[in-house]
Amino acid sequence: MLELLPVHAVHVDLVGTDQPDAQQRQERYVALLSAEEHARMARLVFERDRRRFLLTRALVRTMLSRYAAVAPQDWTFIANVHGRPELLDRPAGVPDLRFNISHTEGLIACAVTIGREVGVDVEHVGRRLTHDVPARFFAPREVADLNAVPEPERDKVFFDYWTLKEAYIKARGFGLALPLADFAFRLAPPSPPEISFEPALPDDPATWQFAQDWPTPVHRLGLAVRRSGPDLAIRIRQVVPQV
Ligand SMILES: CC(C)(COP(=O)(O)OP(=O)(O)OC[C@H]1O[C@@H](n2cnc3c(N)ncnc32)[C@H](O)[C@@H]1OP(=O)(O)O)[C@@H](O)C(=O)NCCC(=O)NCCS
Repeated sequence: MLELLPVHAVHVDLVGTDQPDAQQRQERYVALLSAEEHARMARLVFERDRRRFLLTRALVRTMLSRYAAVAPQDWTFIANVHGRPELLDRPAGVPDLRFNISHTEGLIACAVTIGREVGVDVEHVGRRLTHDVPARFFAPREVADLNAVPEPERDKVFFDYWTLKEAYIKARGFGLALPLADFAFRLAPPSPPEISFEPALPDDPATWQFAQDWPTPVHRLGLAVRRSGPDLAIRIRQVVPQV
């Protein structure tokens, strides 16, 4: 059944990669893939990666189809020069749907909105990282703020910065072609995250809305969306892609 996606809303759907209901639907998900997606999936060596790839495609296709009278298998995609998948063509009457995908151990996320730049990142906070990551990639102010966090919490707070930084570069569509030290987040919960930019990266902080969530106790989510007016309504929920 079609669902209305309000212009002033961002919907984020999440699916657990070990969700039994999703596992049971695998054959039906395979039928949604394009020839190119079949080929990409076949090139993946590990069963676990193939399952995640399939579930990701099923999530994106079924989610988009909730907002437009297009069957999940009929969407066509193209990657921008930095690798971001986008809709190749939009049949008449279909809204200007924009989406972004993220996956990490145990969880896949897809954010959808209309006519806006949107980026999402999910990370498993148990992920092992080398301790020089902030010094190498974060802005100096972020490194200082992170170092001021008491040791037991620092690893978790690290993922606050990481997921927001990823969400921003993904919303812009540049991926890592955008230098991560050219913008900085200031985190002062419960206030929403604020961003600032170096002159090398001209952008307007007032046009960005950021959100964070803990969809599970071990998954941190960061969301970035550009909006011109008041804050957008953000809905985050767990689903099983329905075919
Ligand atoms: C590719 C990148 C955009 C995201 O990578 P990631 O965080 O490892 O992976 P995610 O699961 O969150 O995102 C992958 C998805 O992003 C999308 N994507 C790919 N390139 C993108 C781009 N340029 N812009 C937006 N989205 C992009 C794709 O849909 C991809 O999934 P798919 O291949 O299944 O379609 C890029 O930011 C990257 O390589 N990051 C590496 C991690 C890192 O060093 N982070 C430092 C943070 S401080």
